Amino acid sequence: MAKNGKFAHGVASGFPSPKGVTLWTRLSEVERSSRLMLEVATDDDFRRVVKRTRVTADAGDDFTVHKRVTGLDPGRQYYYRFETKNKHSRVGRFRTLPAPDSKQKLKIGFFSCQDYEAGYYNAQAAMADEDLDLVICLGDYIYEHKYYDGPADRVDRTGVNEDGDVQSLDEYRQKYRMYQADKQLQALHAAHPWVTIWDDHEVEDNYAGDQADSAQPDPNLENSGYPRRVSFERRRRNAYKAYFEAHPRLKRKGMEKNQIYGSIRLGGLAELFLTDQRQYRDPQPCDDGVLTPCPDAQAPGRTFLGAEQKKWFKRAVPASDAKWKLWASELMVMSVDVPAGQAAILDSWDGYQAERGEILTHWKDKGVDNLVVLTGDIHTFFAGDVTTTGRQGGDPVGVELVGGSATSLGLPEYLNVDSSVLHALAAANDPHVKYADFDRRGYAVIEVSKKRVRAQFKAVDALTKRATATTTIGEFQIDAGDPTLHQLS
Ligand SMILES: [Fe+2]
Repeated sequence: MAKNGKFAHGVASGFPSPKGVTLWTRLSEVERSSRLMLEVATDDDFRRVVKRTRVTADAGDDFTVHKRVTGLDPGRQYYYRFETKNKHSRVGRFRTLPAPDSKQKLKIGFFSCQDYEAGYYNAQAAMADEDLDLVICLGDYIYEHKYYDGPADRVDRTGVNEDGDVQSLDEYRQKYRMYQADKQLQALHAAHPWVTIWDDHEVEDNYAGDQADSAQPDPNLENSGYPRRVSFERRRRNAYKAYFEAHPRLKRKGMEKNQIYGSIRLGGLAELFLTDQRQYRDPQPCDDGVLTPCPDAQAPGRTFLGAEQKKWFKRAVPASDAKWKLWASELMVMSVDVPAGQAAILDSWDGYQAERGEILTHWKDKGVDNLVVLTGDIHTFFAGDVTTTGRQGGDPVGVELVGGSATSLGLPEYLNVDSSVLHALAAANDPHVKYADFDRRGYAVIEVSKKRVRAQFKAVDALTKRATATTTIGEFQIDAGDPTLHQLS
């Protein structure tokens, strides 16, 4: 057992099932791999311990522990902690998922885009206080370099140049350690089990498969102008390794080393499909231009998911016997057009319209119903209807809820225009986009029951320390059998 060491990054649980979960921590201030004890109990005083097992904080994985615990009871609250010879970690808790035949309601929170410098993790702390079965992080858990100026005490000095730009494995590890030292983020990890998928900033802005963003012609620079200190290929490898170290997820049997896509059955009511929209895609068309006409965005033969993932996804959703099909999608499925009919951003599904149409039309033909897409990426709250074309004129397939960003600044700051201008431009997306909020930061919560899904968009003030009060800025309902979104308030 380790004699020394500190638990400076809290504890986390992930990828729950009815009988199991993956538990995580990182041991700091040790030199070599160290043994720890892990305890799981049904009470937070650890009087009724149901598991006690030795685990290893592995130096080769930045002293992280990933332990799959099995043999638990479905739908039950558990508590866990790690210990060295003389220290306990904080106590974390998780609820196992309901049994596959249970019709128990599910409450799920989802969020994305937590740039450290842009603000405080008030959204995460507020989610920690919610009664949730699951938290989904849709990506941009870290940002690979500096993007935003925020509160004066949120300065990222990771990386060899101490400017927040990370490229080597050591630097990505520094980045995760900095993020995970945040107490409000730790609170959310300790409060609920998570599932995570990555988006671009876990590696590099707008990368596409094995290539950097085509918007930057100079191979020695990132698209934002930072000099490359390692090749893109090596950077991606470093970033993926650090990602798997930093999250409570296990490589499952039969999965490729860096595979993050797959599905999780959530009790008797829902199945959650996780997709990877970065690792296998072709480059964005038209050099990833913004607000520019791009006929290639509709050209067939370009892939977003890659051949294998697409094959699995096309089949798996119609094959699911779950009532609700929840799709965790990093990037927006609905079109965002400016002007009408012309996609504004080519990094999302809009840049890969033929594949979007192929998948959604296949599902429509197979009779897929009750599809709800949960989306990140765009730092904006959007909600609306998903059709086979992504916009008006296509056949309705389901609905999409885009959960804003936890801290990262939105389109008004990015484009340097007032949100009223964006609202005017967004009118080109009427009627498929029914709700848009460009200004606020926050997260979303859905409650899944047999007859309906209720959703709430919740905003926080991300610029004031520990301001965890939330304002519900949008409420929606999706009725079983009806592929259209109803706004309640
Ligand atoms: Fe983001």
